[in-house]
Amino acid sequence: MQTHEIRERFTNHFVKAGHTPVPSASLILDDPNLLFVNAGMVPFKPYFLGQQTPPFPSGTATSIQKCVRTLDIDEVGITTRHNTFFQMAGNFSFGQYFKEGAITHAWTLLTGPVAEGGFGLDRERLWVTVYENDDEAADIWHEKMGVPRERIQRLGMADNYWSMGVPGPCGPCSEIYYDRGPEYGREGGPVADDNRYMEIWNLVFMEKERGEGIGKDDFEILGDLPKKNIDTGLGVERVACILQGVDNVYETDLLRPVIDVAETVTGSTYEDPAADRADDIRFRVIADHSRTAMMLILDGVSPSNEGRGYILRRLLRRIIRSARLLGATGATMEKFMTTIMDTMEPSFPEIARNRERILHVAVGEEDTFLRTLASGTRLFEQTAESLKGKGAATVPGARAFELHDTYGFPIDLTLEMAHEAGLEVDMDGFEAAMAEQKARAKADNRAKKHGHTDLSVYREFVDSHPTVFHGYEDLTGSAKVLGLVSGGKLVNEAHEGDEVEVILDATPMYAESGGQMADRGTISAGATTLDVNDVQKVGKKVWLHKSTVAAGGLAVGDEVTAEVDAAWRHGARQAHSATHLIHAALREILGPDAVQAGSLNRPGYLRFDFAYTHQLSPDQLQQIELVTNRAVDADYEVNTIETTLDNALDMGAMALFGEAYGDNVRMVEIGGPFSRELCGGTHVSHSSQIGPVSVLGESSVGSGARRIEAYSGLDAFRFMSKETALVSGVAAELKAQSADVPDRVRALAERLKAAEKRVAELKAQQLTAQTADLVADAAQAGTFRFVGARLDDGVTGKELRTVAGAARDRLGSEPGVVVFASKDPEKGSMPFIVAANPAAVEAGAKAGDLVKLIGGYVDGRGGGKADMAQGSGGKPEGFDAGLKAAREELAGR
Ligand code: SER
Repeated sequence: MQTHEIRERFTNHFVKAGHTPVPSASLILDDPNLLFVNAGMVPFKPYFLGQQTPPFPSGTATSIQKCVRTLDIDEVGITTRHNTFFQMAGNFSFGQYFKEGAITHAWTLLTGPVAEGGFGLDRERLWVTVYENDDEAADIWHEKMGVPRERIQRLGMADNYWSMGVPGPCGPCSEIYYDRGPEYGREGGPVADDNRYMEIWNLVFMEKERGEGIGKDDFEILGDLPKKNIDTGLGVERVACILQGVDNVYETDLLRPVIDVAETVTGSTYEDPAADRADDIRFRVIADHSRTAMMLILDGVSPSNEGRGYILRRLLRRIIRSARLLGATGATMEKFMTTIMDTMEPSFPEIARNRERILHVAVGEEDTFLRTLASGTRLFEQTAESLKGKGAATVPGARAFELHDTYGFPIDLTLEMAHEAGLEVDMDGFEAAMAEQKARAKADNRAKKHGHTDLSVYREFVDSHPTVFHGYEDLTGSAKVLGLVSGGKLVNEAHEGDEVEVILDATPMYAESGGQMADRGTISAGATTLDVNDVQKVGKKVWLHKSTVAAGGLAVGDEVTAEVDAAWRHGARQAHSATHLIHAALREILGPDAVQAGSLNRPGYLRFDFAYTHQLSPDQLQQIELVTNRAVDADYEVNTIETTLDNALDMGAMALFGEAYGDNVRMVEIGGPFSRELCGGTHVSHSSQIGPVSVLGESSVGSGARRIEAYSGLDAFRFMSKETALVSGVAAELKAQSADVPDRVRALAERLKAAEKRVAELKAQQLTAQTADLVADAAQAGTFRFVGARLDDGVTGKELRTVAGAARDRLGSEPGVVVFASKDPEKGSMPFIVAANPAAVEAGAKAGDLVKLIGGYVDGRGGGKADMAQGSGGKPEGFDAGLKAAREELAGR
């Protein structure tokens, strides 16, 4: 039975039993605790916790969720059991059926005849486990399903009590296992051997809320959830193994084709699926990682050096390296990606419209990595050789960092290579270098918007009093104060000067979302006025008006007027609609690969991030600006259409990856097909109302992503007018016409360069003349002629080198050493140089050693060869003593 069919049977079974089918959420959900969605229940978490009411008529749902777990990337391939991507099929009950319902549903699907839509598994091969004191579940299994008591085993908290590993819903669970037969291990059920007895389905009786704690079995149980729920997870791939009669996931219809392709392109053979032969592991790494990387790119992740992007980069780079170790010499990514897209497309039809983009991202990363892989590998090998020569066994942290930073080697690659070479890596040193780099990068990103707030104070409002938003139509409206929150606590009143979050029954104010910043405005009643500085949503349902009481006071129950600052909203509309136009223009000019990665807009300004691997040329930017302003000029009508997600996608609407959309969506259309996006923002009603849009420029935001910034409306006009004034000012200074400014500036720059060159020549002549005198006065240091001097300030390191060389040549054939230094007046540091002629080197003088010696006196460092070396120090006043020491050192030879 093909995997795709297993999925269909699962969904049909539960739909027939009244469950609402819910499409898989994106792998990327907006949850700071989660890198990727890693269980089927993740999108349903607010329903379990009672923060939101489940929008399913029967209170039950079913889904097949894409999941990625990347904690143990290094384990992948070593055994055949770990996969970084898998599909979890689940059924969920929110306060409806509980233990008996969940067990019955699972049992009938697993053991039901194939002809009737079941999986037809042999009952005699099924075993179950229950939580240690869960007699109720054990009795249901035995009495209602007929599972013999000896095949029902009990396990403790670590195995049979499920939580997300962090505070959230949790509960005891019951797991279903399939006995694969004696050739896979010992008798005795899952407690004896979890390889022979393979877990296929986990039924969680979600009834408690978990607090802080560590690991799987050491955490506090805070109490009961509002209702008793069910969350189950069936491993689709594991069932596929059983139903396809294959040994492991790599042999199923989803992954085996990638291994076959890998054999062809590398020339190696996948010998023994069960073996831990290094080559076989590499084949499995290629298959597993190709699939996960493809699914991540599908959901909008681009390779980068941080967070999700970094995981993707590691996966792609491990594929590339594994293929090379198997014998591939050129590029292989395209073949792997094409194959895995073919096997996955029947279950994930959205792959079809993203094929080009996925290939572009994956192959782009391969191009980049192949360019540095060879030189990085060479550097690693040199390091390994020299370490071994010295009898050392640890790769220094700084070298591991260099491989990461300059050659793009993910640390696990360096670790792997070190392991293969019998070496260790100084991880502390590496981490320290990384931390230093991160600290630098974060310095300007410090002020994170929200601290961690305990959201439980808002729960009641989310459940029972969702805010009615009517700001698409109105800018003002009357409302009732339902709640006031100050310092994280509910309060009854707020007084002049207080900072308070106001919860109203209805509001015209737009809360920050979809990249659009929140409205500004006021809440007032009689003599009371509150300035609303920010509006944020909790649980997507309740609007928090973050306000300052400017005059008077406010109490829960008051009737008020909420009013949006109309000028603010006007600017916000212009900027948001301009963002859509820029998006459409980008895709027109750059093609469909330029997928949106994020955006921000506020009155007058917008920025738009998108996946793209190349810098945009000035010409492309100009075209994007032109297409955008043409759309403004065309005075397109802007329509908002409420429709189904499928319908909107069919019409070509852009949806942002990582957003969870409901079944009904709001699509904003500007100029018909020109721009269609799923969007909850506020927009102008005709494109001409946007006014001019002026592109400020573009820049890189991490690897594979670019950012365009632009002004809109009057701000665009102000920007252009300022630029024009600037050019006129420059033209006036140059006494030229504006159009001639570029030529004139170029000519000036050339003249300046020539003049600088001439100055440098004159300076060199002058210095040479000065050194002639110094050489004439050379002192004697033992058998060496010695010229040592601090030259005038401001002689550069490069110039020092030239004059020291010239002085050395003048010293003739006797052993001679020259030491020159000069203070850099801007930095306050002191570059210095030591040059030794061949006779001096012959007599044992070493310029490199002398530089180190002097370095000790000027608080500096340096190095070089025996005949010429240079350094720089932070303490110029120590130079004379350093010079003396150098002279004494030579005299002693
Ligand atoms: N949440 C449980 C799991 O991930 C069952 O869906 O195993």
